[in-house]
Amino acid sequence: MSVFLKNCWYAAAFSDEVGREPIARTILDIPMVFYRKEDGTPVALLDRCSHRFAPLSIGTLVGDEIQCGYHGLRFDCSGKCTANPHNDGKALKAADIDSFHIFERYGFVWLWPGDPELADPSLLPHFHFLEDDDTWKVLKGVLYVKGNYQLVTDNLLDLTHAPYLHPGFKMPGVTPEQQLAATTTKTERDGNTVHYHRMRNGLPPNQATIDLFGFPNEPCQTRTHMHWHAPALINFDNGSKFEGQDDLEGFCFPQAHCITPETETTCHYFFAAARNLLRDEEEIDHALMDVLNIAFRTQDEPMIEAVQQRMGNTGDLDSLNPVLLKTDAAPVMARRIIRELLDAEQAEETVIAAE
Ligand code: FES
Ligand SMILES: [Fe+2]
Repeated sequence: MSVFLKNCWYAAAFSDEVGREPIARTILDIPMVFYRKEDGTPVALLDRCSHRFAPLSIGTLVGDEIQCGYHGLRFDCSGKCTANPHNDGKALKAADIDSFHIFERYGFVWLWPGDPELADPSLLPHFHFLEDDDTWKVLKGVLYVKGNYQLVTDNLLDLTHAPYLHPGFKMPGVTPEQQLAATTTKTERDGNTVHYHRMRNGLPPNQATIDLFGFPNEPCQTRTHMHWHAPALINFDNGSKFEGQDDLEGFCFPQAHCITPETETTCHYFFAAARNLLRDEEEIDHALMDVLNIAFRTQDEPMIEAVQQRMGNTGDLDSLNPVLLKTDAAPVMARRIIRELLDAEQAEETVIAAE
């Protein structure tokens, strides 16, 4: 039985990673190759030739088709073997390979590994800040994390780790305990979405907001709302403003966090972060990227990897009976939804197999 949901969207790549050079990426334990047709449409195929299992990603594009670099079988965008050079160039039906359903939106290539008939773009979160260049400047990156993808979700849906793991997000003169005491949280489930609302009042902005955007060191309102969509797409509404201001008059830093399993114990972690202030300042691009890289790459990632090491070869945290804290409400809710969806998918597969 698969440990991964199939009838859902995963981020497969940033759009600008996929071009006329095939790229290899393993997703849900499946080796895939991505490239673009001559008209720009992205293609995803199994990255394993049906003959001697050579990766097609090290083959060659011929028009819209890909030719295996080992003995020259050729495949079209649907995975059909269109030419076998060892039999007068005739197509070889038995050599067909799998193709995968993908489409582009918000600067990502999205993958639906399950039944393409069920692939519904409206199930994606609405990352509005990734489609409005007039209001937002976007920075993005991808991490390769040696940890189960749900450990990244746990990290994002429980931001009480921030004052301990991310000293750079500290407020001047405020202890982690004061920070937590000034924060109210609310966790709600809506279908297969978890809303994890956090509001902080009466404390100054964090040091980075003061340093980079010239915010005064005065009490403000900060929101860090996470909206999680199964299995691992997070729409993060993050910002600080002063009493009486609209959100956009303050600092808004909305983010997309999209975590895609590679294997049970590794994942691809895509993030895109947008800002509304000082959009044309390149120094701010660099400074903000430094803030994100320090937090994500040098603090979250090593912690998640260390946790995975302590878990051993399993990606299933629940099987290890972790102690739960009150602050685990949102991650626990997300894990429960994944469990329910997996059970439903597996029951469906069992019925189909029995028919
Ligand atoms: S391995 Fe691809 S043609 Fe032989
Ligand atoms: Fe973090």
